[in-house]
Amino acid sequence: MNSPMLEKARRFEEEARLEIADGERPRFHLSAYTGWLNDPNGFSYYNGKYHLFYQYYPYESHWGPMHWGHAVSGNLLEWEYLPAALAPDMYYDSDGCFSGSAYTLPDGSQALLYTGVHCDGENGSKVDTQTQNLAVGDGLDYQKYDGNPIIAENMLPAGASKSDFRDPKVWQEKDGSYSCVAVSRAADGSGQVLFYRSKDGYRWRFESVLVENKKRFGMMWECPDFFLLDGKWVLLVSPMDMQPQGFEYHSGNNTICLMGDFDEEKGVFIEQSNQSMDYGIDFYATQTMLAPDGRRILIAWMQNPDAVTIREPHSPWAGQMCIPRELSVKDGRLYQKPVRELERYRGEKVAYEDVSVTDGDGVTLAGVAGRVLDMELIIRPKDKGNIYTKFEMRFAKNDEYFTRLSFRPHEGVLKLDREFSGSRRAIVHQRRCLVDGYEDVLKLRVILDLYSVEVFINDGRQVMNATIYTEPAAEEISFHADGEVRLAVEKYGLEK
Ligand code: FRU
Repeated sequence: MNSPMLEKARRFEEEARLEIADGERPRFHLSAYTGWLNDPNGFSYYNGKYHLFYQYYPYESHWGPMHWGHAVSGNLLEWEYLPAALAPDMYYDSDGCFSGSAYTLPDGSQALLYTGVHCDGENGSKVDTQTQNLAVGDGLDYQKYDGNPIIAENMLPAGASKSDFRDPKVWQEKDGSYSCVAVSRAADGSGQVLFYRSKDGYRWRFESVLVENKKRFGMMWECPDFFLLDGKWVLLVSPMDMQPQGFEYHSGNNTICLMGDFDEEKGVFIEQSNQSMDYGIDFYATQTMLAPDGRRILIAWMQNPDAVTIREPHSPWAGQMCIPRELSVKDGRLYQKPVRELERYRGEKVAYEDVSVTDGDGVTLAGVAGRVLDMELIIRPKDKGNIYTKFEMRFAKNDEYFTRLSFRPHEGVLKLDREFSGSRRAIVHQRRCLVDGYEDVLKLRVILDLYSVEVFINDGRQVMNATIYTEPAAEEISFHADGEVRLAVEKYGLEK
């Protein structure tokens, strides 16, 4: 039986969705069914379909008491909305069903393990209690488990905060048992990742502190994920309140990748390196899943949490996911590429092999325009003794607007700038990325989907993205240079 609160949300979204015309949403990026979306949750493959749940407030396009929205897809790109899966209708989640993950139970049903938030008055001020709770279902309807909470305060290590204890990410081991990582705030006030195990998916026990932040990367950590990929253990976390570190990390919330080994006996991660997951503007709260064909696929909330005001308050939806990315490890770095399914949507190819772009008003190329497209660029100097000073691509452009991607080879810096995208907010509009290992040739793959741009640099060694809310009619693209650039372009419209 669904609760009246969940039924109300389902009735509301069924009506409110009709107010959002097809053309008002991104085509391939999942956006809120109605109202507000933040983190991806429960990213999984269940009964022959990909399932993606998300932090959801259906009633308004801003954050509110968290529900779980739900969508399914056969190919990670065309999503079908299903009715909301969870509402904050129990004592232990009365202030929100926060982030969590999905797994298949031994009897074939689907489990959602999520954070329940309950706020209580204590010493005159309100204090959150965050616990981990289970809902079990069939891919459409989910019942909250009578034994909730199943991971609570009594399973926290000494000194850990019960107010910041959330975002359980579960995976199944080869022997059928389950493992889980969740985050909490340690006694020093900064984040840590906790490791739990379960034989049956219901009864959990605390194993170890997998890794402590010790204030190295921001303060509290959110949305952990942990997996073995190409022989390396990868820990993804989203730290809050970071200070900038060179070109690698920016101030505010970041998502970082720590790579290393795992001492399974002690349940401790041995860290060897760290890198930013996205050098652009809008990227947070990643979650991955293992696809049936063995690919490790990542998705994230395409939003900088400090810039949630970028959408007007009356916009019918706020929040979208990034394009799912396939992950791999090469030369000690995590690489990310758009899922290969995207290539199936490529329309006619428009290609230019060797265009000279020099100082002047800019070059436009017949057939190279649009707001929903997949484009590959190879940017080279004319010759090694004659290196250009700057290359720039302007897109989502008309007489009033443009967004630009510019590269200065002498510094190796690629810059994404959405200042003239139509934004009316005093938020971050530019971000720079130091291109790792740059030597003469820069390879970019640019994906546009109406309200976003994603740039995969040198086969996915680095990525930069941003949301833009420029009117869709602004679809020109032009190329500019200081000095001479030789440019190769391959452009495909993306069509459903
Ligand atoms: C990350 C986050 C999570 C939390 C959820 C609440 O964006 O703060 O830690 O579970 O969002 O919506």
